[in-house]
Amino acid sequence: MSSSYKHLLQISKPVAVLGSIQNLLDWDQETYMPKQAIHFRSEQIELLASLQHKARTSKKMQRAIGALIDLESGQIRDMQLTQEERAAAREYRRDYLQAKKLPNAFVKQFAKTSAKASHAWQIAKEHHDFKSFAPHLEKIVKLSQKKAAFLGFKEHPYDALLDLYEPGLTVAFLNPLLTRLKVGLTHLIEEIALKPPVKENFLYHFCAKQKQLDFAHLLLSKMGFSPETSRLDTTAHPFCNPIHLTDIRMTTKIHPENLLFNIGAVLHEGGHGLYHQHLPTAHYGSPLAEAASYGIDESQSRWWEVLIGQSLPFWEHIFPLLQKEFPEAFSNISLKEFYRAINAIKPGCIRIEADEISYNLHVIVRFEIEKGLIEGSIDVKEVPFLWKEKMRAYLGIEPLLDGQGCLQDIHWSLGCFGYFPSYTLGNLYAAQFFNAFKTQHQDWDERVRAGDFAFINQFLKENIHQYGRQYSPQELCQKVTGKELSEKAFLDYLKMKYDDLYS
Ligand code: CO
Repeated sequence: MSSSYKHLLQISKPVAVLGSIQNLLDWDQETYMPKQAIHFRSEQIELLASLQHKARTSKKMQRAIGALIDLESGQIRDMQLTQEERAAAREYRRDYLQAKKLPNAFVKQFAKTSAKASHAWQIAKEHHDFKSFAPHLEKIVKLSQKKAAFLGFKEHPYDALLDLYEPGLTVAFLNPLLTRLKVGLTHLIEEIALKPPVKENFLYHFCAKQKQLDFAHLLLSKMGFSPETSRLDTTAHPFCNPIHLTDIRMTTKIHPENLLFNIGAVLHEGGHGLYHQHLPTAHYGSPLAEAASYGIDESQSRWWEVLIGQSLPFWEHIFPLLQKEFPEAFSNISLKEFYRAINAIKPGCIRIEADEISYNLHVIVRFEIEKGLIEGSIDVKEVPFLWKEKMRAYLGIEPLLDGQGCLQDIHWSLGCFGYFPSYTLGNLYAAQFFNAFKTQHQDWDERVRAGDFAFINQFLKENIHQYGRQYSPQELCQKVTGKELSEKAFLDYLKMKYDDLYS
């Protein structure tokens, strides 16, 4: 390790440790915190956030990064740096400049406004009352436009926000990509709508909570998790909070009559968890030990949830275990019936319950509207109407109530404009990575059928996890798949799978 990099790591490690404490508090708040502790918890979080921001933008940090790289020009200064340390220097500089661009007062105002907005959103969602949320959304949109201006952009204000989640991504690249994807997906949905529906009501059989949790733990151990370095709890919305490589916290939600929701959630959050568990320990505190982007992170969760977790080889191994644990629900069902049922295509109003074809159309609806809000071509009061119009056009359904429409997701109220496309990018990256995986492991299905999952982890660790942010998402995609990101691999995968399932 070069000495200037080592010195910088010593300075940045405490910032990562502060961040991990904040993560732990967030986890606690969603799992076990007594209700009345919320006000004191806000004080704790606020203190940690400001300590982190101060440390990130301190003179000491500036000097330490400046020893590796020129902060103005981005030229490498320390010629002793290895290739990965140069990449780290570039990312340290990016984070530093980004943190410096947002004035402290603005960050505080943003946090305050979004805290009020997310409270208002909760009530508005429950009462299907967009009107009561609209003034909050207007404020958030204005602040997000201001944020884009602070961060800076070349062509489109939404580019500045996209860049926060997917470095380097622009509207100029994303818009045509998602338009091509939309055409392919709507076509598939229309074709499948002409076929007889798949029988799937048997999936909603009562399965006791404790047995579901035991099964979730079994899946995690198959994925390679150890209870010594991870844990699973239950929350209102499943999530993964990687505190440290030795402390991965995941949650699921148990619906007694929907075991498959729990299974999907555990595989999804487990996929995030494995990524963070395999980041390089030696670089903890450096961007090299962070996920490449939200889209790449999501590719890892969708990989396990869908590409593995809804595949036939996976269920050839798991289904007998499921039948053994839940005989009342599944002993009279064949594997074939089960496999068809969990892959049934059934467009609905709710994104997080969507099948893998509809899912991305939900994302595209929100992307098109939020891009319009940020560029100023769409007015907040038009949102519910546009939402219904787009849902009808792309998915052939229309939510009657706003709580099941434009109010269903929390992201806007938190000010997370630019986040949504990561969900779809995750699916596209995953499909491309999976092609590379199949080329390398042509017997993958046989091995999975036999219960071998370790080689999957090895592939992901070697090709993706170990690099952290050493490569940009675009570079990583090129490196692993030999191609730039596109919709093609994903659409080909869907066509193959569903032609077969609905033939
Ligand atoms: Co996820």
